[in-house]
Formats: sequence, structure tokens, C-alpha cells
Amino acid sequence: MQYPVYLQLTGTENVYAIQGPSRFWECTRMGGQTMCHDVIATTWPERQRILDMLSDDGPWSAVAREDFEAAWKAGGGQPSVDHEAFHLQEHVDLAAYTTFGIHAKARWFADITSLEALRAALDWARSHNRELLVLGGGSNMLLHGDVDALVLRIQLHGTTVLSDDGQRVQVAVGAGEVWHDFVMDTLDRGWGGLENLSLIPGSVGASPMQNIGAYGVEIKDHFAWLDAVRVSDGALQRFNAQECAFGYRESVFKREERGKWILVQVAFDLDRESPLRMGYGAIEEELKHLAPEDRTHRDVSDAVIRIRRSKLPDPAEIGNAGSFFKNPTVPASVANTLLAAHPHMPNYPQPSGEVKLAAGWLIEQAGWKGHRRETHGVHDRQALVLVHFGGATGQEVWALAQDIMASVEDKFGVALEPEVNQIGAKAP
Ligand code: EPU
Repeated sequence: MQYPVYLQLTGTENVYAIQGPSRFWECTRMGGQTMCHDVIATTWPERQRILDMLSDDGPWSAVAREDFEAAWKAGGGQPSVDHEAFHLQEHVDLAAYTTFGIHAKARWFADITSLEALRAALDWARSHNRELLVLGGGSNMLLHGDVDALVLRIQLHGTTVLSDDGQRVQVAVGAGEVWHDFVMDTLDRGWGGLENLSLIPGSVGASPMQNIGAYGVEIKDHFAWLDAVRVSDGALQRFNAQECAFGYRESVFKREERGKWILVQVAFDLDRESPLRMGYGAIEEELKHLAPEDRTHRDVSDAVIRIRRSKLPDPAEIGNAGSFFKNPTVPASVANTLLAAHPHMPNYPQPSGEVKLAAGWLIEQAGWKGHRRETHGVHDRQALVLVHFGGATGQEVWALAQDIMASVEDKFGVALEPEVNQIGAKAP
């Protein structure tokens, strides 16, 4: 369902804009006057009204968005916002809210624990002309300095089973849940699908943003839909996988729709019988002590956790944001020239005919693995990860990243791109 849905009550001048399953705006004409209301449908009669309006057989017909907006304007329509629903804080240090652990202050800050709070915060930012920065687990960003914006930490929780036929399950999860805790919960309940994505840092809401992936699985493989709130007006909209336009570490929310939506809930299709995926990297090797028929989703998850722990730094101990760079994709001709000089270079031909290279390998070959600049450096077991030991600024970490990119370009002629979002980076 694409919201808003604009409707007219047949035989009247009353028009409606349904903003989501639990909210609609109405403009009714009485005695030559237009009266407009924003109805938040938290109780049953209003929710039933929305269902009635959306059913095909009622006295409702579609109306143009412009006609609704003209009525809404004439009637002085305003979204109703519960300003008490969110608690605004000022000058809040964000070090504890990002996995890099770099000190930087948010000029304004709020924890968001409900849709009402989110709408109130968006309304506040709009009316005060403030920019927004949304934090999930803060696991994929580098703050280059203080943030002159309203920073929202999404703390929407809860898991709901939507359907379960004894084998397949559809489950909806609040965007603020910790990704790894959610994966562990699915395995505790016997649901397969997400085991290869164990131990990825971050929140559930951040996972579709960049279509997180590891060990041959991406979130898009098990994604059902997500609900997002539009920043411009607080409307709730559901996106299916196609509408999310997932790619390698990409979605529509990183491209065309960047900054326009806040993800509030994500649903996944899981399966008690889903096949185990052990073809990638060291998983098979990790599981060889178990007979193939005895292996479970939990065993694959345990193997992934062991492999990740052996190579990747734990953000609770050393600040980092996982892979700092994306693996670059180059034309086959470029890959072949490089392979002639470096026959052991990891390379992954893509269906497009291009070839994906391993950024970690390129960085290691350029001599950066384990490089340390007192407060920060390159991880000594995985060159793709930049680490913060304490006391660095975001700009210092970014300067290291730029040196690495220049050196890889110089040695291999390959341009690296950061995977981590750069917040407040100055234009070069
Ligand atoms: N390699 C090196 N030196 C290094 C790192 C890697 O030579 O320092 C070589 C490896 O030996 C291997 C190849 O590069 O031949 C690829 O390495 P690996 O399999 O470890 O995976 P990756 O490409 O470095 C990607 C994801 C990781 C994910 C792993 C496992 C990206 C940018 N990174 O890393 O995701 O965990 O595959 O699936 O796609 C993350 O996004 O934060 C992340 C950790």
C-alpha cells in the first residue's frame, strides 16, 4: 500500500488523506466552512474507519492530491503533534552512540521510543529549520566534528510474528533492536535464514539501508517489507523489496531517497527448513568436525561468530565501523592487467562481466595492514577496517582513509570508495 491515499466520500465534499494504517487527515464541509483534522487512530473505531475507507466496496472514490491539499489549506489543516512525546536534549556527546567511539557533540538530541515521538521530533526540526541525523546502532558512520543538527537515536523495539505455518515464518521487528540480538532470537526460536549475518554490528533499522551482507548472504535474500516514516510530513509508508532497490551495500535509501525516510519497522521471511549456506570462505572448514547431516543454523552462526571474532575487532573493545571501504568493481580488462602482475590477487567475476576485487587485499599489498598513528590505525588482522584506539578526531581518521585511497590508486590504479557514511565531511 502506497500512502497517502486520497479519497472523497461519495455525494459529499468531504476529502481524506490516509497517511498510514493508523493515521488519516480529514477535511469536512459544514455550513460553507471546511474543518480539517489530523486523526491518529490508536483505538479501534478509528482504525476500523481506515479499513472501511480502504475497502473496495465502500462509498469512497479517489480524489486528486491537489484537490485534497486545496481543502486542507482552506481549512487551516495542521498535523497534530504531541510535543510532549519527545524529550529534547542539548549538547550531547555521541561517543557512546557510535561504534567508532569518537567524541563529537550533537547540538540537539532525542531518543525516539514511539511513532508519536518521531513525528513530534520531525515537526520540531521542520518548524525550527534544523537538519536531522538519524542514528541506529551508529555502526556505519564517522563523525568529522560536532553535529549541528537534531540527532535522533531510534529506540523502537519489539518483535511480532505475523504468520507461521509451522515451517515458514514472517516476523516484523522494531528498527531500534540490536541486529545481532535479533538474529540470536530468530535462532533461539528455530528460524533459519539470518545465521550468516550473525555479529554484524548495528541496528535492525540500519540493516536494509545498505543491504548488509556477509558470508554469501545479504539481507535482501530474506527481506519481506519495511515501514518508514516520511521526514517531510510524518506519513507512514510500506516498501517492498523491489521498491527498496537493493544492490551491493546499497538501497534506494542511500541514493534517490537519501534523507527522506526514517525506517521504523522491518519484516523478514524466515524458514525452519532453510538450507545452510556454507560455501563462502572458511565456514565449511570451521564445521568440518560435524557430519553434514548434523549441522544446524546455529552451527553456521557459531562458525560465523568464530571467524568474525578472529578477524574483526569488537567495537566494545576497539572503536571501528566494520569495513571502512567497499570492495571495488573494475572492468575485466583492468582486472586482467592486475592479475598478470599479481596472479594471487583475489578476484570475483560478476554477472555483469565486471570483476570485484578485495579492498582488504589491495590495502594490505599497499603496506597498510597494522599501520598505527598513535590514536588510530588499520586493523592488524583485516586491512579493510580502520580502528580507533582512543583520542582521535574524525578528521584524523578520515585523513588516514584518504592516504590509503591515494596509495591504492597509485599502486594499482583502483579507486576505493568508503562504505562508512562520512558525517560533516568538508567538501574537498
Ligand atoms: N584480504 C587480504 N588482506 C586483508 C583482508 C582481506 O588479503 O587484510 C583478502 C582475503 O584473504 C580474501 C579477500 O581479501 O581473499 C576477501 O576478504 P574477506 O573474505 O575477509 O572479506 P572482505 O571482502 O574483506 C566482505 C565484507 C565484510 C564481510 C566479509 C565476509 C565488504 C566491504 N566487506 O569483506 O563485511 O564480513 O566480506 O562476508 O563487502 C562490513 O561490511 O562491515 C563487513 C565486515
